[in-house]
This record gives sequence, structure tokens and C-alpha cells, in this order.
Amino acid sequence: MRMRHKPWAEDYLKSHSDIVDIDGSRAGHIREWFNNDQPIYIEVGSGMGQFITTLAAQNPEINFVSMEREKNVMVKVLDKVLEQNLSNIKLICNDAVELNEYFVDGEVDRLYLNFSDPWPKNRHAKRRLTYHTYLALYKQILKKDGELHFKTDNRGLFAYSLESMSQFGMYFTKINLNLHEEDVEGNIETEYERKFSEKGSRIYRMEAKFHS
Ligand SMILES: C[S@@+](CC[C@H](N)C(=O)[O-])C[C@H]1O[C@@H](n2cnc3c(N)ncnc32)[C@H](O)[C@@H]1O
Repeated sequence: MRMRHKPWAEDYLKSHSDIVDIDGSRAGHIREWFNNDQPIYIEVGSGMGQFITTLAAQNPEINFVSMEREKNVMVKVLDKVLEQNLSNIKLICNDAVELNEYFVDGEVDRLYLNFSDPWPKNRHAKRRLTYHTYLALYKQILKKDGELHFKTDNRGLFAYSLESMSQFGMYFTKINLNLHEEDVEGNIETEYERKFSEKGSRIYRMEAKFHS
């Protein structure tokens, strides 16, 4: 997601170090940061945070972590957390390749990927968040029975992800090939989801787990 450069973004994020980590100082200490034993759900590539902040407001008994590498975008997530005074969400401003630095093995109960960048060219496949190197990171930090939930409007990325995940030894517990036409309870729309579904795009969704 490209956003206009905000020269004040870094200082703004730094001034809320109780909620946001932008320097890796919380790496390996996420549980202590929350200071409770609640389950941990994370979203990688949260964008402006509509999805995860809504989920956090609805589920105070769960801890949420938003991971987004763009500071100019993360400020929008922070605004939402502050406006709603949410105490069960933390923000990590860093790249997903660092996930295993932040989370202890088996610490995470669920991981969400929503409308991840599709990187349609084959030579960029390594950057897709469902490329096998990322799946290996997710497997490492997720609990044995942990879940990966994925939504996209991009049919190519969805097909690629189904193949990449099954080749990695994952299995699917739910697949929706037209989410908005199916009777799915409690779907929380992301910013991209709203934009694309208003244009008539079909939304694909899956839930998957790793074979142990
Ligand atoms: C297409 S946007 C979707 C945003 C949001 N999930 C939604 O559905 O509205 C993808 C977001 O993922 C972030 N992103 C992409 N690759 C990432 C990575 N490797 N680590 C962290 N964030 C990443 C981008 O900066 C961007 O904000």
C-alpha cells in the first residue's frame, strides 16, 4: 500500500511505544508486553487496520498484533487504536521476514493474511506472503493446531496460495470461492475488501492448518 510520505510518522509511532514497536525492542517479549495469558492472533500486512481493530474491539478476551512494514500506513492503525482506546492490540512496524524474531515458537494461535500484495510476475514469487519461506515462518510461530486465515480478491494469488500451502503440507478446513455471496457469519471487511467488492470483484477466502 502506497501512502503519501508523512515526515512525522516515525516520531508519532515512537511517542506511543507502549502500543507500537518500531525498533525491535519488544522482539521475543510479546507475551510480557501484553502481560496476560490470552490467545494471540496476528495480522500480517494490516494496511490501515480496519479489520484488526474491529476484531480487537469485538474480542477483548484475545490479544491482537498488527504487523505492517510501512510507517506511513501504520499511523492509521495507531489512530484507530487510540480513538477506540483498545487495550488488547499491539502494533509491530516491521517486515514479515522478522516474524520469528518477535514471536517465540508456538506462541501464536491464529495468523491472518488479508489482500496481500499479489506480486503477479513469476520472478517476484518469493515476495508473496504465501511463498514457502513465509509459510515456514508461520509454521514456526503458530501453535500446533494454529490457523492461517487468508482472503483476497486476486484469483491468481488465491490459486497460487492453495498450491503453495498444499505443497508445504498444509490442509484446508474452509474454502469460500465467493465470500460475499455465501452465507458467512461475522465477516469483517478490510479497506481493500470494501474497495474491490464495491467494484464487483469476487472475494476468495480460506482457513488452513499445518500437518504436524
Ligand atoms: C494490499 S495492502 C492490504 C491491506 C489490508 N490488509 C487490507 O486488506 O485492506 C497490503 C499491505 O501489506 C503490507 N505488506 C506487504 N508485504 C509486507 C511484509 N513483507 N511485511 C509487512 N507488511 C507487508 C503493505 O505495506 C500493505 O500495507
